[in-house]
Amino acid sequence: MNPIEEFEREVQKNIQCLACDTSLPRQALDWMLKVGTVGSYTYNFQWLGRPIIQYPQDLQAMQEIIWAVKPDLIIETGIAHGGSLVFSASMLALLDMCDAIETGSSIDPKTSKRNVLGIDIDIREHNRAAIEAHPMASRIRMLQGSSISPEIVKQVREIAKACERVLVCLDSNHTHDHVLAELEAYAPLVSVGSYCVVFDTLIEDMPGEMFSDRPWGPGNNAKTAVWEYLETHPEFRIDKDIQHKLQITVAPDGYLRRTR
Ligand SMILES: C[S@@+](CC[C@H](N)C(=O)[O-])C[C@H]1O[C@@H](n2cnc3c(N)ncnc32)[C@H](O)[C@@H]1O
Repeated sequence: MNPIEEFEREVQKNIQCLACDTSLPRQALDWMLKVGTVGSYTYNFQWLGRPIIQYPQDLQAMQEIIWAVKPDLIIETGIAHGGSLVFSASMLALLDMCDAIETGSSIDPKTSKRNVLGIDIDIREHNRAAIEAHPMASRIRMLQGSSISPEIVKQVREIAKACERVLVCLDSNHTHDHVLAELEAYAPLVSVGSYCVVFDTLIEDMPGEMFSDRPWGPGNNAKTAVWEYLETHPEFRIDKDIQHKLQITVAPDGYLRRTR
Protein backbone atom coordinates (compact mmCIF):
# COMPACT_ATOMS: atom_id res chain seq x y z
CA MET A 1 0.00 0.00 0.00
CA ASN A 2 1.41 3.41 -0.90
CA PRO A 3 1.60 6.21 1.74
CA ILE A 4 -1.40 8.04 0.25
CA GLU A 5 -3.61 4.94 0.46
CA GLU A 6 -2.26 4.27 3.93
CA PHE A 7 -3.30 7.75 5.10
CA GLU A 8 -6.75 7.37 3.53
CA ARG A 9 -7.20 4.06 5.34
CA GLU A 10 -6.20 5.75 8.61
CA VAL A 11 -8.83 8.46 8.03
CA GLN A 12 -11.49 5.81 7.37
CA LYS A 13 -10.48 4.12 10.64
CA ASN A 14 -10.79 7.47 12.48
CA ILE A 15 -14.26 7.96 11.06
CA GLN A 16 -15.32 4.46 12.13
CA CYS A 17 -13.99 5.12 15.66
CA LEU A 18 -15.98 8.36 15.82
CA ALA A 19 -19.09 6.53 14.56
CA CYS A 20 -18.72 3.84 17.24
CA ASP A 21 -18.35 6.20 20.19
CA THR A 22 -21.88 6.37 21.60
CA SER A 23 -21.16 9.34 23.90
CA LEU A 24 -20.24 11.78 21.13
CA PRO A 25 -23.67 12.43 19.52
CA ARG A 26 -25.14 13.59 22.85
CA GLN A 27 -22.20 15.89 23.54
CA ALA A 28 -22.36 17.33 20.01
CA LEU A 29 -26.12 17.91 20.33
CA ASP A 30 -25.68 19.60 23.70
CA TRP A 31 -23.07 21.92 22.19
CA MET A 32 -25.22 22.74 19.15
CA LEU A 33 -28.24 23.39 21.36
CA LYS A 34 -26.21 25.72 23.57
CA VAL A 35 -24.62 27.76 20.74
CA GLY A 36 -27.96 27.91 18.93
CA THR A 37 -29.78 29.37 21.92
CA VAL A 38 -27.06 31.62 23.34
CA GLY A 39 -25.98 33.34 20.13
CA SER A 40 -27.67 32.10 16.91
CA TYR A 41 -24.30 30.55 16.00
CA THR A 42 -25.16 29.95 12.32
CA TYR A 43 -25.59 33.69 11.69
CA ASN A 44 -22.02 34.54 12.68
CA PHE A 45 -20.10 33.70 9.52
CA GLN A 46 -19.32 35.14 6.10
CA TRP A 47 -17.98 33.73 2.83
CA LEU A 48 -16.01 36.22 0.71
CA GLY A 49 -17.84 39.06 2.43
CA ARG A 50 -21.43 37.73 2.30
CA PRO A 51 -23.21 36.41 5.41
CA ILE A 52 -23.59 32.63 5.14
CA ILE A 53 -26.06 30.84 7.40
CA GLN A 54 -24.14 27.58 7.83
CA TYR A 55 -21.83 25.83 10.24
CA PRO A 56 -18.18 26.05 9.07
CA GLN A 57 -18.05 22.25 9.44
CA ASP A 58 -20.74 21.79 6.78
CA LEU A 59 -18.87 24.13 4.45
CA GLN A 60 -15.82 21.88 4.78
CA ALA A 61 -18.02 18.92 3.78
CA MET A 62 -19.44 20.89 0.84
CA GLN A 63 -15.92 21.75 -0.34
CA GLU A 64 -14.99 18.04 -0.30
CA ILE A 65 -18.18 17.09 -2.17
CA ILE A 66 -17.69 19.80 -4.81
CA TRP A 67 -14.09 18.74 -5.37
CA ALA A 68 -15.12 15.07 -5.71
CA VAL A 69 -18.18 15.67 -7.93
CA LYS A 70 -16.90 18.63 -10.00
CA PRO A 71 -20.41 19.82 -10.80
CA ASP A 72 -21.29 22.10 -13.68
CA LEU A 73 -24.51 23.16 -11.95
CA ILE A 74 -25.24 23.70 -8.26
CA ILE A 75 -28.92 24.29 -7.51
CA GLU A 76 -29.67 25.90 -4.14
CA THR A 77 -33.04 26.60 -2.58
CA GLY A 78 -32.86 29.34 0.07
CA ILE A 79 -30.64 32.31 -0.77
CA ALA A 80 -31.03 34.69 2.24
CA HIS A 81 -27.96 37.00 2.14
CA GLY A 82 -26.34 35.03 -0.68
CA GLY A 83 -23.38 33.61 1.26
CA SER A 84 -24.00 30.03 0.18
CA LEU A 85 -24.40 31.08 -3.47
CA VAL A 86 -21.10 32.94 -3.30
CA PHE A 87 -19.50 29.93 -1.57
CA SER A 88 -20.65 27.55 -4.33
CA ALA A 89 -19.66 29.99 -7.07
CA SER A 90 -16.20 30.40 -5.57
CA MET A 91 -15.72 26.63 -5.41
CA LEU A 92 -16.71 26.38 -9.08
CA ALA A 93 -14.25 29.18 -9.89
CA LEU A 94 -11.50 27.14 -8.23
CA LEU A 95 -12.47 24.08 -10.29
CA ASP A 96 -12.19 26.19 -13.44
CA MET A 97 -8.83 27.52 -12.28
CA CYS A 98 -7.53 23.97 -11.67
CA ASP A 99 -8.75 22.89 -15.12
CA ALA A 100 -7.01 25.88 -16.69
CA ILE A 101 -3.73 25.09 -14.89
CA GLU A 102 -3.92 21.46 -15.97
CA THR A 103 -4.71 22.22 -19.59
CA GLY A 104 -2.65 25.40 -19.90
CA SER A 105 -5.70 27.36 -21.05
CA SER A 106 -7.04 30.72 -19.84
CA ILE A 107 -10.18 31.31 -17.74
CA ASP A 108 -13.10 33.51 -18.73
CA PRO A 109 -15.62 33.42 -15.86
CA LYS A 110 -18.28 34.95 -18.11
CA THR A 111 -18.27 31.91 -20.38
CA SER A 112 -17.66 29.25 -17.74
CA LYS A 113 -19.92 26.23 -18.01
CA ARG A 114 -19.97 25.93 -14.22
CA ASN A 115 -22.76 27.91 -12.59
CA VAL A 116 -24.95 28.26 -9.52
CA LEU A 117 -28.72 28.63 -9.58
CA GLY A 118 -30.40 30.03 -6.46
CA ILE A 119 -34.11 30.11 -5.69
CA ASP A 120 -35.77 32.13 -2.96
CA ILE A 121 -39.35 33.18 -2.32
CA ASP A 122 -38.16 36.62 -1.17
CA ILE A 123 -34.87 37.98 -2.49
CA ARG A 124 -34.49 41.21 -0.52
CA GLU A 125 -33.37 44.16 -2.63
CA HIS A 126 -30.22 44.86 -0.58
CA ASN A 127 -29.21 41.20 -0.78
CA ARG A 128 -29.86 41.00 -4.52
CA ALA A 129 -27.81 44.18 -5.07
CA ALA A 130 -24.89 42.87 -3.00
CA ILE A 131 -24.93 39.47 -4.74
CA GLU A 132 -25.10 41.10 -8.18
CA ALA A 133 -22.18 43.40 -7.26
CA HIS A 134 -20.02 40.50 -6.01
CA PRO A 135 -16.99 39.40 -8.08
CA MET A 136 -18.56 35.91 -8.25
CA ALA A 137 -21.82 37.27 -9.71
CA SER A 138 -21.22 36.17 -13.29
CA ARG A 139 -21.62 32.54 -12.21
CA ILE A 140 -24.77 33.14 -10.18
CA ARG A 141 -28.33 33.14 -11.46
CA MET A 142 -31.30 33.78 -9.16
CA LEU A 143 -34.99 32.95 -9.47
CA GLN A 144 -37.58 34.52 -7.19
CA GLY A 145 -40.56 32.38 -6.23
CA SER A 146 -41.44 29.39 -4.10
CA SER A 147 -39.06 26.52 -4.76
CA ILE A 148 -42.02 24.16 -5.08
CA SER A 149 -44.14 26.27 -7.42
CA PRO A 150 -44.63 24.54 -10.79
CA GLU A 151 -43.30 27.56 -12.75
CA ILE A 152 -40.04 27.65 -10.77
CA VAL A 153 -39.59 23.87 -10.92
CA LYS A 154 -40.14 24.01 -14.70
CA GLN A 155 -37.50 26.72 -15.14
CA VAL A 156 -34.97 24.88 -12.99
CA ARG A 157 -35.51 21.63 -14.91
CA GLU A 158 -35.04 23.49 -18.18
CA ILE A 159 -31.73 24.98 -17.00
CA ALA A 160 -30.50 21.65 -15.59
CA LYS A 161 -31.22 19.83 -18.86
CA ALA A 162 -28.07 21.19 -20.47
CA CYS A 163 -25.84 20.17 -17.53
CA GLU A 164 -23.88 17.02 -16.99
CA ARG A 165 -23.10 16.97 -13.27
CA VAL A 166 -25.68 18.48 -10.97
CA LEU A 167 -25.49 19.02 -7.21
CA VAL A 168 -28.57 20.11 -5.24
CA CYS A 169 -28.74 21.88 -1.83
CA LEU A 170 -32.08 22.34 -0.08
CA ASP A 171 -32.14 25.11 2.54
CA SER A 172 -35.43 27.01 2.32
CA ASN A 173 -38.63 26.28 4.22
CA HIS A 174 -37.80 23.37 6.55
CA THR A 175 -41.29 21.83 7.03
CA HIS A 176 -41.78 18.15 6.21
CA ASP A 177 -44.20 18.79 3.34
CA HIS A 178 -42.11 21.53 1.77
CA VAL A 179 -38.82 19.60 1.87
CA LEU A 180 -40.54 16.44 0.61
CA ALA A 181 -41.95 18.44 -2.33
CA GLU A 182 -38.46 19.90 -2.99
CA LEU A 183 -36.96 16.42 -2.92
CA GLU A 184 -39.57 15.17 -5.40
CA ALA A 185 -38.87 18.18 -7.66
CA TYR A 186 -35.09 18.48 -7.49
CA ALA A 187 -33.51 15.20 -6.33
CA PRO A 188 -34.17 13.57 -9.74
CA LEU A 189 -31.91 16.25 -11.26
CA VAL A 190 -28.92 15.07 -9.19
CA SER A 191 -26.48 13.13 -11.33
CA VAL A 192 -25.25 9.69 -10.32
CA GLY A 193 -22.33 10.02 -7.89
CA SER A 194 -23.41 13.53 -6.88
CA TYR A 195 -25.39 14.65 -3.83
CA CYS A 196 -28.64 16.18 -2.71
CA VAL A 197 -27.73 17.98 0.52
CA VAL A 198 -30.67 18.65 2.80
CA PHE A 199 -29.82 21.24 5.44
CA ASP A 200 -31.35 21.71 8.90
CA THR A 201 -32.28 18.06 9.42
CA LEU A 202 -30.88 18.80 12.90
CA ILE A 203 -34.29 20.24 13.84
CA GLU A 204 -35.51 16.67 14.48
CA ASP A 205 -32.93 16.27 17.25
CA MET A 206 -33.53 19.58 19.04
CA PRO A 207 -36.16 20.42 21.66
CA GLY A 208 -39.49 21.67 20.26
CA GLU A 209 -39.36 24.90 22.31
CA MET A 210 -36.48 26.05 20.11
CA PHE A 211 -38.86 26.42 17.17
CA SER A 212 -42.00 27.74 18.89
CA ASP A 213 -42.17 30.65 16.40
CA ARG A 214 -41.55 28.43 13.35
CA PRO A 215 -43.81 26.14 11.28
CA TRP A 216 -41.30 23.29 11.71
CA GLY A 217 -40.08 21.35 14.74
CA PRO A 218 -39.39 17.78 15.87
CA GLY A 219 -41.66 15.42 13.89
CA ASN A 220 -42.15 17.94 11.07
CA ASN A 221 -38.91 18.93 9.40
CA ALA A 222 -36.27 18.25 6.78
CA LYS A 223 -35.10 14.99 8.40
CA THR A 224 -38.58 13.46 8.54
CA ALA A 225 -38.95 14.43 4.86
CA VAL A 226 -35.64 12.74 3.98
CA TRP A 227 -36.67 9.55 5.75
CA GLU A 228 -40.00 9.45 3.91
CA TYR A 229 -38.37 10.23 0.55
CA LEU A 230 -35.80 7.45 0.96
CA GLU A 231 -38.53 4.85 1.52
CA THR A 232 -39.39 5.05 -2.17
CA HIS A 233 -36.08 6.24 -3.61
CA PRO A 234 -33.39 3.58 -3.19
CA GLU A 235 -31.21 5.41 -5.72
CA PHE A 236 -30.17 7.69 -2.83
CA ARG A 237 -28.43 6.68 0.35
CA ILE A 238 -27.41 8.71 3.38
CA ASP A 239 -23.65 9.21 3.37
CA LYS A 240 -23.19 8.63 7.11
CA ASP A 241 -19.40 8.97 6.87
CA ILE A 242 -19.87 12.71 6.40
CA GLN A 243 -21.86 13.25 9.59
CA HIS A 244 -19.56 10.91 11.52
CA LYS A 245 -16.48 12.81 10.50
CA LEU A 246 -18.03 16.24 11.01
CA GLN A 247 -19.69 15.43 14.35
CA ILE A 248 -20.94 19.03 14.37
CA THR A 249 -23.41 19.46 11.50
CA VAL A 250 -26.84 20.93 10.80
CA ALA A 251 -27.41 18.13 8.29
CA PRO A 252 -27.36 14.72 10.05
CA ASP A 253 -28.92 12.22 7.60
CA GLY A 254 -29.02 15.10 5.11
CA TYR A 255 -26.04 14.23 2.90
CA LEU A 256 -27.77 12.08 0.28
CA ARG A 257 -25.58 10.45 -2.34
CA ARG A 258 -27.09 9.27 -5.57
CA THR A 259 -25.73 5.81 -6.25
CA ARG A 260 -27.60 4.94 -9.46
C1 LIG B 1 -31.81 29.44 5.98
S1 LIG B 1 -32.11 30.68 4.80
C2 LIG B 1 -31.00 30.21 3.50
C3 LIG B 1 -29.57 30.36 3.88
C4 LIG B 1 -28.57 30.24 2.75
N1 LIG B 1 -28.68 28.99 2.06
C5 LIG B 1 -27.19 30.35 3.33
O1 LIG B 1 -26.54 29.31 3.53
O2 LIG B 1 -26.74 31.46 3.59
C6 LIG B 1 -33.69 30.26 4.20
C7 LIG B 1 -34.21 31.05 3.01
O3 LIG B 1 -35.30 30.31 2.45
C8 LIG B 1 -36.22 31.21 1.90
N2 LIG B 1 -37.51 30.53 1.73
C9 LIG B 1 -38.48 30.32 2.63
N3 LIG B 1 -39.53 29.70 2.08
C10 LIG B 1 -39.21 29.47 0.78
C11 LIG B 1 -39.86 28.86 -0.33
N4 LIG B 1 -41.08 28.36 -0.21
N5 LIG B 1 -39.22 28.81 -1.50
C12 LIG B 1 -37.97 29.33 -1.65
N6 LIG B 1 -37.32 29.93 -0.65
C13 LIG B 1 -37.91 30.01 0.55
C14 LIG B 1 -36.23 32.38 2.87
O4 LIG B 1 -36.70 33.54 2.21
C15 LIG B 1 -34.77 32.43 3.31
O5 LIG B 1 -34.07 33.40 2.56
